[in-house]
Amino acid sequence: MNGNRVAVVGLGLLGRGIAACFLARGFEVVAVDTSEARLRESIAAIDQSMAELTERGGLNPERRASWREHYHPTVNYSHLRGCSFVVESIAENLQAKQAVLSQIEEVTADSRTVVASNTSAIPITLLQQPCAHPQRIIGMHWAEPAHATRFIEIIRGDRTGDEAVETAIAIAKRLGKDPSLVQKDAPGFIVNRIAYAMYREAMQILEEGIADVETIDRSLRNTLGLWASVCGPFRWMDLTGGPELYARAMAPVMSSLSSSNQLPPPIACLAEEGAKGIANGRGFYTYTTEEKSYWEQLYREQAWKVTQQQQENFPLETPHE
Ligand SMILES: NC(=O)c1ccc[n+]([C@@H]2O[C@H](COP(=O)([O-])OP(=O)(O)OC[C@H]3O[C@@H](n4cnc5c(N)ncnc54)[C@H](O)[C@@H]3O)[C@@H](O)[C@H]2O)c1
Repeated sequence: MNGNRVAVVGLGLLGRGIAACFLARGFEVVAVDTSEARLRESIAAIDQSMAELTERGGLNPERRASWREHYHPTVNYSHLRGCSFVVESIAENLQAKQAVLSQIEEVTADSRTVVASNTSAIPITLLQQPCAHPQRIIGMHWAEPAHATRFIEIIRGDRTGDEAVETAIAIAKRLGKDPSLVQKDAPGFIVNRIAYAMYREAMQILEEGIADVETIDRSLRNTLGLWASVCGPFRWMDLTGGPELYARAMAPVMSSLSSSNQLPPPIACLAEEGAKGIANGRGFYTYTTEEKSYWEQLYREQAWKVTQQQQENFPLETPHE
């Protein structure tokens, strides 16, 4: 088995970007798809990604010029033999993914090849069910455009082995990503679970006639779009009133969001203890005076940067002076 030889199975929108990431970091990449046309199309798409990575991501021009020598497109699964790491990235369908994982396993049966599924929301434990070597199966959820984004969720299925987890994290880091380890398998993992809840509420607001599609989109762009590249939800609450304020604001809305009208325990407990986020140094995180200033300043800078960008993209008639 060659540690530098990896594979991508399914060269669609995501698979092409994933292949580009591996090529940019010096891997030999076997690319398997059932469609010859998709494989042909992947070459132009990867070339475009490599050009972007050279212009914006500091990719060595020599690697950009020679990537095609290291890319091996094929419809033949037997070419997976000898690959140390395989990313499955076919369309989101449990049965189809299970069948492909079994095919990959057959070819790589005698090795320690780790097989990662790029699924958006299917629990890895379900994907592992028919597998002969479930300890080698892991979730690896990428974000589009895969060659440009830092995001990767590494998901441990119930039967995933520690070695597979360590390998997947090491590969993600070698690809210049910022991996998030999801410790417990659940539909949607972290980001899609949160995102799907948000999309569901957006539909609900639309259905109830509270606002139209464009207004909902614009409102989120003007708020979430401002903070989400420097904060997650916990940091954001800490910066803007902390658990105490959010608990008070959220309590009356809870019954319209879930079957329980109770606040979730993590925020209820902190609110009861008087946690006001950066205002008193206690929130979901704790803050020294220096840390409080750092986060305040960071967010303020970000708010101006994004507001300026929004004015360029979506000019208001009466902008900030
Ligand atoms: N679209 C997104 O933004 C996004 C983001 C993260 C993860 N994902 C997940 O990534 C996965 C791939 O999504 P996509 O949008 O790239 O799909 P896609 O439909 O663009 O590509 C799927 C590819 O798989 C190939 N394929 C189908 N059956 C195959 C088989 N048996 N063996 C080999 N190749 C086969 C198809 O020919 C196609 O080229 C999905 O699970 C999706 O949920 C998507």
